[in-house]
Amino acid sequence: MKIFKDKHTLQKEILKTKGTSFVPTMGGLHNGHISLIKQSKKSKFKTLVSIFVNPKQFNKKSDFRSYPRNTKKDIKLLKKLKVDYLYIPTFKDIYGFRPKNKVFLDKSSKKLCGKFRKGHFKGVLNVVNRFIEIIRPRYIYLGKKDYQQLYLIKKHIERKKIKSKIIECKTIRENNGIACSSRNIALNKDQMKIASNIFNYLYKLKKKIKKSYKLFKISKIKRDLIYLGAKKIDYIENYNIKDFKKIKKPNKKFNLFFAYYIKNTRLIDNI
Ligand code: PAF
Repeated sequence: MKIFKDKHTLQKEILKTKGTSFVPTMGGLHNGHISLIKQSKKSKFKTLVSIFVNPKQFNKKSDFRSYPRNTKKDIKLLKKLKVDYLYIPTFKDIYGFRPKNKVFLDKSSKKLCGKFRKGHFKGVLNVVNRFIEIIRPRYIYLGKKDYQQLYLIKKHIERKKIKSKIIECKTIRENNGIACSSRNIALNKDQMKIASNIFNYLYKLKKKIKKSYKLFKISKIKRDLIYLGAKKIDYIENYNIKDFKKIKKPNKKFNLFFAYYIKNTRLIDNI
């Protein structure tokens, strides 16, 4: 595995290949990332993973500072997975140039996480747009756990007629049901249990509301989640996953989206 800290040397290397399959990450690698990488490795292109904790997508400095980082462990894992290239840029490498494309932020960026984390998606699109201009990947692998992020990146790519193709990858879950996330590391055993109970409750709820939408009573659901151990609930809403519009009646394509806190850890998922 070749490691790059500078975009010019990386670009020189990529030029020698037929193209790259790109897996962008913020490190703290888990089974979700491993699954993205394994899918990328099946493509005919070289697999390039990036690790960059992007300060511009954190709406709280404390969250940026406490975000899990373990680059040594990540590098070991990436070598084991036989990743071709790893890019660990500095802030200047990413933000020290003016991108050709301006970021396109679809209006659905104001919903769900966009409402509760001001500037978050603008920060995500900014960094992804820069990565795309540096790398020009053939494929970009993204997980459906962060579905709103995936949707907005797709909209940006469509609007700007960028040639990279987004590969949507299924959410990987722990045995207890909760979605793999770098943030799970902050949960102790009891908190893991709370997260798992909340997942099971919402999983069953989704099944029930598919049959009878009357059962979707947000204030009651929020009370139940608090009872199960959530500290605060940002949102719990049903969205059509094709057009990202809130649904009023159950239809086949809707997902239940939720974000909540266990102590200071914010967890998001959709089922
Ligand atoms: O999902 C993530 O880890 C990040 O939001 C991404 C896509 C790597 C951009 O910083």
